Amino acid sequence: MRILLFSGKGGVGKTSVAAATGVRLAELGYKTLVMSVDPAHSLGDSFDLEGGLFHGTTADPKSVHPNLWIQEVNIQREIKRHWNEVAGYITSVLRTTGLSDVEAEEMAIFPGMEELSAMMYVNQYRKEKQFDVIVLDCAPTAESLRFVSLPTTLDWYVKHVFSLERRVMKAVRPIIKTFGPIEAPPDSYFGNIQDLFQKIQGIDAVLQDPETTSVRLVTNPEKMVLRETQRAFVYFCLHGLTVDQVIVNRVLPEEITDPFFENWLKTQRGILGEIEAYFAPVPMSTVPLFNHEVLGVAGLQELSDRLYRKTVDPALVTRTEKAYSFSMVDGHYEVRMRMPFVQKAEIGLFKKSEELVVEVGTLRRHVGLPTTMASLVPVKARLEHDMLIVEMRSAT
Ligand SMILES: Nc1ncnc2c1ncn2[C@@H]1O[C@H](COP(=O)(O)OP(=O)(O)O)[C@@H](O)[C@H]1O
Ligand SMILES: [Mg+2]
Repeated sequence: MRILLFSGKGGVGKTSVAAATGVRLAELGYKTLVMSVDPAHSLGDSFDLEGGLFHGTTADPKSVHPNLWIQEVNIQREIKRHWNEVAGYITSVLRTTGLSDVEAEEMAIFPGMEELSAMMYVNQYRKEKQFDVIVLDCAPTAESLRFVSLPTTLDWYVKHVFSLERRVMKAVRPIIKTFGPIEAPPDSYFGNIQDLFQKIQGIDAVLQDPETTSVRLVTNPEKMVLRETQRAFVYFCLHGLTVDQVIVNRVLPEEITDPFFENWLKTQRGILGEIEAYFAPVPMSTVPLFNHEVLGVAGLQELSDRLYRKTVDPALVTRTEKAYSFSMVDGHYEVRMRMPFVQKAEIGLFKKSEELVVEVGTLRRHVGLPTTMASLVPVKARLEHDMLIVEMRSAT
């Protein structure tokens, strides 16, 4: 099974591109599910479904086209389905603080629940081999990064906190029963949590396997959007995911001659060049700005034809290695990046604001550094085969 994760700033056209990719995959004969993980769902609208997507009680994938299903993860429904004991307990605790029922219920929805629920579905469909491809229409960048970092966080939590919490609760429950103003969680609460963890087990390995999961960054040819895309690129790398395509949506068509757009066209060309250089060797694709909204299967088909030109198979695995990786070796940090066809003498390294800049002749690559490494400077570099390894240490 393939998982294609579409991420990018809000409003760039993620949902449209993800849905159009679904249309293309279905056309190629893949059993495809497009799943929305963005609380601001618009997948149903994108397919122009009467009255949006599900207003009933079922969360099951809905068939919208031959080979194509869509699903929106709705947190209220997920709570009833998976989080009942957890949310119920948290709500009862919050109520003791004087919050009203509605407020307590609202607050029992903690960040990440939506992403977790989506992951449970992905894992379930993977195990049951229900689909050939799952296309994930993610929330804006920050939230979709939470999606990919959650499994690691939770794994740690389960190992270190949960088992401890459980042991502590066993010991203190009789005391709380007698004196405490706050009720202890019932055993079903722990059972429920354990159950939930079981449902996402193995998903982090799935997300990090480039043969299964590919990240596609959707962006617009605008400076501010590009900055966020660059950060997203770095952080997906950091979490071990493989970005294999950058899709620039809403590119002004060159045939526009209206002088009003002259400057727009010029800056867009500049930024497109910048995008191509920054993300290389990850390929960039473009989608033009249409003179109408992208709506319904017909509109999505049009977008798909411009993006994939009836020739590209979006499910193909095209990149199996990460652009670069960060690691801690013998107490210092290292940045590793594949640098084929270069000699050491050709390589220049320096630091610019929070980026490590790598120069090879006239080519330049900006490597955004994670927060923990942002203050470090490159002190040494070596080439091992075609891998450039840069040693980073603090400046002092
Ligand atoms: N290339 C395009 N040309 C014209 N309109 C577009 C294009 N891409 C997206 N849109 C429109 O822009 C709006 C936002 O797109 P959407 O896919 O919902 O963005 P996101 O999911 O990133 O928030 C929608 O009305 C959509 O139809
Ligand atoms: Mg969207």
